[in-house]
Amino acid sequence: MDNIKIIESAREFAKQTHALDSSGHDWWHVWRVAELAKRIAEQEGADIFICELAALLHDIADEKLNKSEAEGLEKVNDWLENQKIAKEHIEHILTIIQSMSFKGGGRPPMKTLEGKIVQDADRLDAIGAIGIARTFAYSGAKGQPIYNPEILPREHLTHESYRKEQSTAINHFYEKLLKLKASMNTPFARELAERRHNLMDSYLKAFFLEWQGKA
Ligand code: ADP
Ligand code: NI
Repeated sequence: MDNIKIIESAREFAKQTHALDSSGHDWWHVWRVAELAKRIAEQEGADIFICELAALLHDIADEKLNKSEAEGLEKVNDWLENQKIAKEHIEHILTIIQSMSFKGGGRPPMKTLEGKIVQDADRLDAIGAIGIARTFAYSGAKGQPIYNPEILPREHLTHESYRKEQSTAINHFYEKLLKLKASMNTPFARELAERRHNLMDSYLKAFFLEWQGKA
């Protein structure tokens, strides 16, 4: 099967898997990450096919959509084997997906350029104008307030306690989003992150001025 057909069926697979999602892993997030990954891959001279395919599949194994991460990875593995993609490509893509998460402090860092690019694209989609929108959408879905000056940002929390404890949408910027710029792997993603980060900075400044009735 040629690469264009594989990409087409990956799109269908991702669309179906993410159709009913309200946890911030919707199909259009996946679509944006794939578009960004392609663009970064062109700039960085990486394998565009691997980047796009890994991006399209990157959230299918997410723990929020599966009973366990292992079960999710199995689903992706089965799908890849059905496409008759070279074994080395399958392993490469599975390794990328496994290493994607920011939360897993113990995870090994991304080894390949393609992995670094897909991770950058996913992190870029969490910041800037899109990142702001996703944060409020996610918070609304979880019943978190926009902001509450009596609730301080959570720091140094484990992944588990982080998930359990309630916070606010604005706190999420300090807990995670403003830290993402420093975690970009590739020069081109760093450039894009700079603009998106500055936009969030301006947004937060305006938010607090308005909160205090000063603007
Ligand atoms: P990913 O798996 O892509 O890193 P997450 O599951 O961490 O994404 O989050 C999905 C979206 O929801 C992101 O835009 C993220 O910033 C937002 N989000 C995640 N956790 C929170 C939270 N506690 N409060 C507000 N937004 C959140
Ligand atoms: Ni994602």
